[in-house]
Amino acid sequence: MTDDRPVLPTSGYGDHYARQATSQPDAMEAFWMPFSANRQFKAAPRLLASAAGMFYTTVDGREILDGTGGLWCCNAGHARPRIVEAVQQQIATLDFAPTFQMGHPLPFALAERLVAIAPDHLNHVFFTNSGSESVDTALKVALAYHRARGEGQRTRLIGREKGYHGVGFGGISVGGLPNNRKFFGSLLPGVDHLRHTLDIERNAFSRGLPLHGVELAEDLERLVLLHDASTIAAVIIEPVAGSAGVVLPPEGYLKRIREICDKHGILLIFDEVITGFGRVGKAFAAQRFDVQPDMITTAKGLTNGCVPMGAVFIADRIHDTFMHGPENMIELFHGYTYSGHPLACAAALATLDTYAEEDLFEKAIELEAYWADAIHALRELPNVVDIRNIGLIGAIELASRPGAPGARAYDVFTRCFHEENLLIRVTGDVIALSPPLILTRGHIDRIFQTLAHVIGQTA
Ligand SMILES: Cc1ncc(COP(=O)(O)O)c(C=O)c1O
Repeated sequence: MTDDRPVLPTSGYGDHYARQATSQPDAMEAFWMPFSANRQFKAAPRLLASAAGMFYTTVDGREILDGTGGLWCCNAGHARPRIVEAVQQQIATLDFAPTFQMGHPLPFALAERLVAIAPDHLNHVFFTNSGSESVDTALKVALAYHRARGEGQRTRLIGREKGYHGVGFGGISVGGLPNNRKFFGSLLPGVDHLRHTLDIERNAFSRGLPLHGVELAEDLERLVLLHDASTIAAVIIEPVAGSAGVVLPPEGYLKRIREICDKHGILLIFDEVITGFGRVGKAFAAQRFDVQPDMITTAKGLTNGCVPMGAVFIADRIHDTFMHGPENMIELFHGYTYSGHPLACAAALATLDTYAEEDLFEKAIELEAYWADAIHALRELPNVVDIRNIGLIGAIELASRPGAPGARAYDVFTRCFHEENLLIRVTGDVIALSPPLILTRGHIDRIFQTLAHVIGQTA
């Protein structure tokens, strides 16, 4: 066999791009940054140049401890050798191949690997490029499923207040964060919302799942009474909500939601874009909480964040409903040019290997108690009104300054970054933590000692 692939020059180009990637840009105007205060950021940028293991390095050479896994993405830490090599090799072997009426081996191999770690009945995977696309895909599959089985009147989608399901029109319609909705018109019709489960008055400083609030699941019965079950296609919820500032399900809540869905023939979708891939000590939160959803949406940790990719896990009974009719018919008129992209598949396969080789999901469980002790030790600090934790997720909620919501946590965030070399994330006045699962007790000590110091000094 002759190899007539073009021989590319290997010197020069790489260095040129590496220099650009690691130094302060000459101009910053053109890039409209997502979910950012652009003018404030560009006046005092925080630019990351490289990363390895638990640390980022900034363009000015400071090493920053990553308390966020990037953005809930890098569960195996940064620049892990297997993943780096897999992507490097893949791009030189097959850079792109279509998956519409064509294929290449990797998404088939990856889907098999994924269903092996998913709940038993979720044996089919639809690939996307992001959490938002995974959510829109799951919502569309739910609608098309009911139609395929002769219940096309089931068009209503139920989300939850404070829910975050990405930024597509489907996701913001079922989502429950006012700022993500109010600027964008009338959204999808026929959507309703459950109440959220954050109840600081009754549940402040719970370790793990809060005890109070299972009765909030009965909201679903209320919506069934209002709309009639025959109009409702699906309920979508995050088992643990992240973007709203970490909101945990009360004990028994998810199981009760499942029961009500079963009773009324409503599909249950778990949005596990942040909880998937070990964050709560199992591959999926569905397994940790022992509740079986009909679909699970994922992204982020699927490729350890290094190549954009999402995946929707779909129950056999849903998938099989589509596999009727003439075999030359396309069963689902949905897909993305990059569904099952070779680089993303290579990254995901190597990511799964890394998770397994290092037992990272189990590690999250092993460290959970230490993590919980460390974060709850901050409860007596000034302005701390609640602390929430599960797996290697943590949230510290601060009282808002009068008339300036978010300002106090933002000050903690910038001081941590600029003065203490620690990356945290804030939403409103909630500090949210989701470190790579490779962290050690030493890293946990450093994160919370730093936070204790900074919160203690922030008026
Ligand atoms: C639960 C959940 N769903 C969906 C998304 C959207 O993912 P993406 O930003 O990849 O579109 C996120 C992102 O944080 C998320 O947390």
